[in-house]
Amino acid sequence: MAIVELKNVAKRYDSMPGKKGAEHANAVEDFNLTTKDGEFVVLVGPSGCGKSTTMRMIAGLEHNTAGEIRINGQDVSSVEPRDRDIAMVFQSYALYPHMSVYHNMAFALELKKTPKEEVKQRVQEAARILDIEHLLDRKPRALSGGQRQRVALGRALVRQPQVFLMDEPLSNLDARLRVGMRAEITRLHRRLGVTTFYVTHDQTEAMTMGQRIVVMRDGRIQQVDTPYNLYERPVNRFVAGFIGTPSMNFLQADHHGDGLGGQGFSCPLGPRLQAALGEGGQRSSCWLGIRPEHLHQVEESSGRGRLEGVIEVIEPLGPVTMVQVRVGDTLVTAQLAAHLDVEIGDTLGLAFDPDQVHLFDIESDQALGLEPDSAASSTQATA
Ligand SMILES: Nc1ncnc2c1ncn2[C@@H]1O[C@H](COP(=O)(O)OP(=O)(O)O)[C@@H](O)[C@H]1O
Ligand SMILES: [Mg+2]
Repeated sequence: MAIVELKNVAKRYDSMPGKKGAEHANAVEDFNLTTKDGEFVVLVGPSGCGKSTTMRMIAGLEHNTAGEIRINGQDVSSVEPRDRDIAMVFQSYALYPHMSVYHNMAFALELKKTPKEEVKQRVQEAARILDIEHLLDRKPRALSGGQRQRVALGRALVRQPQVFLMDEPLSNLDARLRVGMRAEITRLHRRLGVTTFYVTHDQTEAMTMGQRIVVMRDGRIQQVDTPYNLYERPVNRFVAGFIGTPSMNFLQADHHGDGLGGQGFSCPLGPRLQAALGEGGQRSSCWLGIRPEHLHQVEESSGRGRLEGVIEVIEPLGPVTMVQVRVGDTLVTAQLAAHLDVEIGDTLGLAFDPDQVHLFDIESDQALGLEPDSAASSTQATA
């Protein structure tokens, strides 16, 4: 088991397609993170934000161009990948087609001249954990996608590494299998307690699996936090929009007297929002963020925020219905009851609790009025 430390780590590739100018020259910039022993850390962010590059630097497959990577206190910059005691699982987990499942899993150990008995014992143990004992004699072509994925995991497992790196290992599986496998990986982690970095671009996967989540954008960490804190206290508009599904709605709001508002919506200001708006000087406008699940169809709404618009889309999902209404020039998504008595083209009024909204600076996109403890955790994340 291990504590992995990244300090001011950066990666600059000599040629980076589509990135010009010094400001955007780095694939990863100023990356700071220290894991706990046995922690499950998820890196999440849109394609190209630097997740794989970060993983490859931890594995030693790429050299960091700045900063320091330490494993259990030891600077690993001069340690070869094979000596780092790290096992990786990739999205494209090419199994050797001519080898049986057993030999696919045993291969790395045999290369290291591990005694035959021990190889056998480790492969069988991994196969038992992954429930693939009955497949050990098969060739990869005789396996389903999910079974192949298990073999790829097994191959990493038998090495009993001190760190697991998993880079989008479930992307090739269909949605249902992905949900099953993600629970299985979580169980596996609980059982083995190996420090794990897990990469995904899927915020649901990140939220369900990560003990801590690193949200990245353009090579930079935006926030490092628990799933709960990312949802409740996003530090900026990017994180707010990225975490949560469907995404948070953002309305550009004017500040007048004791309220925020714009075309088709208004929000009264209690002490919390007043204080948030006053932060760093008075503001005449801000972004008002409202999650779809915080919009409700209610008649009476004194003391509440309100918005109104024409329905453009109705999506019944079973337990809930997603409705999109045009408010001014913004399309707002609301998560409403399963059975709705509305039609496309109807005007719909919705209410929300001002205590549940998020405010963001109109220019910097930074969250306004975050409580001190969350401000501390986010500073820690980016310091
Ligand atoms: N070998 C490389 N040479 C040049 N640029 C690269 C190389 N690998 C990745 N990049 C660039 O670095 C950035 C981050 O890539 P990557 O780490 O693969 O992102 P992610 O895994 O988050 O999708 C991207 O802009 C990508 O184009
Ligand atoms: Mg990647």
